[in-house]
Amino acid sequence: MRLRFFTVFDIVKNKADQLGHSENEMYANLKKEKINKKDLLAYKDSGIIPTDEKVLSGILNYLDMSRVELELKLGRIPTGFEEVFSNSTKEIAKMLEEKNIVNQQQKEISISSVQPYYSSDLGKLYNGDCIELFKQVPNESVDTIFADPPFNLDKEYDEGVTDKNSFSGYLDWYYKWIEECIRVLKPGGSLFIYNIPKWNTYLSEFLNGRMNFRNWITVDMKFGLPIQGRLYPANYSLLYYVKGDKPKTFNVQRIPLQTCPHCGREIKDYGGYKNKMNPKGVTLSDVWSDIYPVRHNSSKNRKFNELSIKLLDRIISLSTNEGDVVLDPFGGSGTTFAVSELLGRKWIGFELGNCEIIKERLVNKEKDKKLFDKVYEEKNKLFPDRIKELRKKNGLWIDDDFRRGSDNKSTSDKSINEENNIKNYDQISLSLK
Ligand SMILES: C[S@@+](CC[C@H](N)C(=O)[O-])C[C@H]1O[C@@H](n2cnc3c(N)ncnc32)[C@H](O)[C@@H]1O
Repeated sequence: MRLRFFTVFDIVKNKADQLGHSENEMYANLKKEKINKKDLLAYKDSGIIPTDEKVLSGILNYLDMSRVELELKLGRIPTGFEEVFSNSTKEIAKMLEEKNIVNQQQKEISISSVQPYYSSDLGKLYNGDCIELFKQVPNESVDTIFADPPFNLDKEYDEGVTDKNSFSGYLDWYYKWIEECIRVLKPGGSLFIYNIPKWNTYLSEFLNGRMNFRNWITVDMKFGLPIQGRLYPANYSLLYYVKGDKPKTFNVQRIPLQTCPHCGREIKDYGGYKNKMNPKGVTLSDVWSDIYPVRHNSSKNRKFNELSIKLLDRIISLSTNEGDVVLDPFGGSGTTFAVSELLGRKWIGFELGNCEIIKERLVNKEKDKKLFDKVYEEKNKLFPDRIKELRKKNGLWIDDDFRRGSDNKSTSDKSINEENNIKNYDQISLSLK
């Protein structure tokens, strides 16, 4: 039985299900209330309440509900009732607790231990449903969780794992495994959730009451065809939250200055600040424009979605240290586990579909190692070697010029200069965002 609803459509559908009516019968009954199919479908993919009074009253008649009850079913405090709600929390809590006693007594807790599909010195991969498998994970035992769940886009993954749920069903499911993520994270542990922005707006609202918001990271990437009547979707959202007031680990990540791949010239003009730039690169901002989809067959491990080594390296390096534990409940092709192995992190992985692909990838690491080394050719450098050479050839400045300049000064001048530079580096990085 569905407990929470997020759309009016799902509430109506649930009522029809309770009455044992088919969808056609449901629409026929709605017609009697002067509601046509189009009127109802407008509330299938959004959580709003009908603004048209006629539509609203027809739906309320069909549901045999008041507007207040409808808002409560949508999981919110009814508009205009905030004060009375706030003044009545004692009575509401008492009523809810009394009703819940029966529920608690009926709940059976059965945790059976499951054997891993694959184990390495650093990690364990389990084949099954993440909500079941989470039960194996002790409280406060994980440092970072990265989750790239199905996006409810009606896709089919390997071994018949489908990605189609109702609006309410998807969010209900989502909140269940997020509660588990929060339970297993250590204090100060980090949670990263990758999804399309639409779903992350709901998740953010849910998470704000339970964890500490750090960033909404925009991963700039085109992920489909243009949609008529809408802006072309060109970013994924990566939510970053921590359990408790601050992260237990936050390792600054630096990226190269953006330059033209043909001439090596910087894309933006940094004016007179070039001598103050950190030779290790620009501080990473919350807009990531340097992550590309894994499309080429030579780097892909399966035909379904797969994230890049670069993305996972960034997330894991940023939020963990060697020996820390990383968990990914939606293994897919195993990118999180492959990167954890390469970075010397312990890991726990779940995957409902095909685990053999992941196992093969973790046993034969050469391809991932090559891609990983490529990521490090550019990481924590103001200019990657290739760009540095290109700039030298074209008579453009490189960071070595300034360090060489300060080498010629007297020792005291040099240390003052370096100290000033270090202080300035981060200000400059900020102004580049
Ligand atoms: C978007 S893909 C993850 C891709 C992964 N990040 C990668 O880089 O390869 C989502 C994966 O979650 C799996 N999945 C779906 N529902 C699941 C569940 N309830 N428990 C565990 N895995 C599930 C699917 O089979 C699919 O492989």
